[in-house]
Amino acid sequence: MRLKIIIVLTILTGITGSPSITIRPEVELVDNKQRISEQQNLVTETDEVVEDVMATGELNPNHYPAQRAAKVVQHYINTLYGSPFKVFHLHRVHSGNAEDVADSGRKYQLEISVQEMISNTSGKCSAEVFFSRGDKQHSPQVQVMCEELLKINTTKEEDAFYQHLKKNTSLLSAEYLPDSHGHIEPDMKPLWHLASVASSFIMLNESTQDTLFNMAQVANVTQLATESDQLKFEYLILLHEMVSQEIIRWKLLVSWCPPEGVKVLQMEKLPHCHECEKPPNTN
Ligand SMILES: *[C@@H]1O[C@H](CO)[C@@H](O)[C@H](O)[C@H]1NC(C)=O
Ligand SMILES: *[C@@H]1O[C@H](CO)[C@@H](O)[C@H](O)[C@H]1NC(C)=O
Ligand SMILES: *[C@@H]1O[C@H](CO)[C@@H](O)[C@H](O)[C@H]1NC(C)=O
Ligand SMILES: *[C@@H]1O[C@H](CO)[C@@H](O)[C@H](O)[C@H]1NC(C)=O
Ligand SMILES: *[C@@H]1O[C@H](CO)[C@@H](O)[C@H](O)[C@H]1NC(C)=O
Repeated sequence: MRLKIIIVLTILTGITGSPSITIRPEVELVDNKQRISEQQNLVTETDEVVEDVMATGELNPNHYPAQRAAKVVQHYINTLYGSPFKVFHLHRVHSGNAEDVADSGRKYQLEISVQEMISNTSGKCSAEVFFSRGDKQHSPQVQVMCEELLKINTTKEEDAFYQHLKKNTSLLSAEYLPDSHGHIEPDMKPLWHLASVASSFIMLNESTQDTLFNMAQVANVTQLATESDQLKFEYLILLHEMVSQEIIRWKLLVSWCPPEGVKVLQMEKLPHCHECEKPPNTN
């Protein structure tokens, strides 16, 4: 106990003492419980970032290496099954194992629980994540098997939302989801969920063994007029990389319709913006 406190204090001192860290993950209030537990992981295990990065064999499920690899699985599941009414989050890592694969990279084998945030349904998944080594950055390769989660059926909600948008003559737009109080209007929630899923496409692509991404905020979103059955949205999204404490802005062109699911048609990383650096304070 005492040791733990000392470690936490040391790390907090380290954080407040560093002038480069100006952004706190306070915007991420949408799912308080999970955010808090993530921040606790961050605080109590910062020292693992360095020491455990090459951990091999059985991993501590609560430590960074297993958590980061498991987070990649969350993003992968969202890219496959996410929708404005289905958003998957990593709930818990039960066990993890890492091994070097010759010179080509590292493979993680994980048993995790994943939660669908809207129906509040959890299910177990077995996954394998491979991070390749080399100069060129490849996105991690993921294989996953989940039982219960894939039974969640949101066809009715999706069809209703789709028809609502398709019929409406005015195009939807919004900014600051959540707002400076951490609030999202109920009729804007599907747009926020769609952004979470679309962000997973980026976060999956950008993840390495040393990153831990979350979506922080939708800066703005505009529905675009389309002739086809696909609905299209342009998003400006802020991602939070928890290891470097960076806020990264991405512009995304996203399409969605119930039969085809969510697709990210374009993604563009925007240059660092100093005025935009601080997402609204949510105290
Ligand atoms: C989600 O489900 C769990 C039990 O599986 C329950 O403890 C929790 O309160 C639920 N959360 C919400 C927001 O409904
Ligand atoms: C989901 O439910 C709808 C009825 O609401 C049904 O028509 C459809 O086949 C179901 N889809 C799956 C994948 O079970
Ligand atoms: C169209 O969308 C606007 C804004 O979301 C809403 O106020 C209005 O009720 C919608 N109209 C219809 C016919 O659904
Ligand atoms: C993933 O990122 C790389 C650059 O790191 C880029 O070339 C590639 O197009 C991206 N993949 C997707 C699906 O956007
Ligand atoms: C969204 O935000 C970006 C950056 O702040 C801005 O350049 C763009 O014009 C905004 N788009 C809309 C539709 O408000």
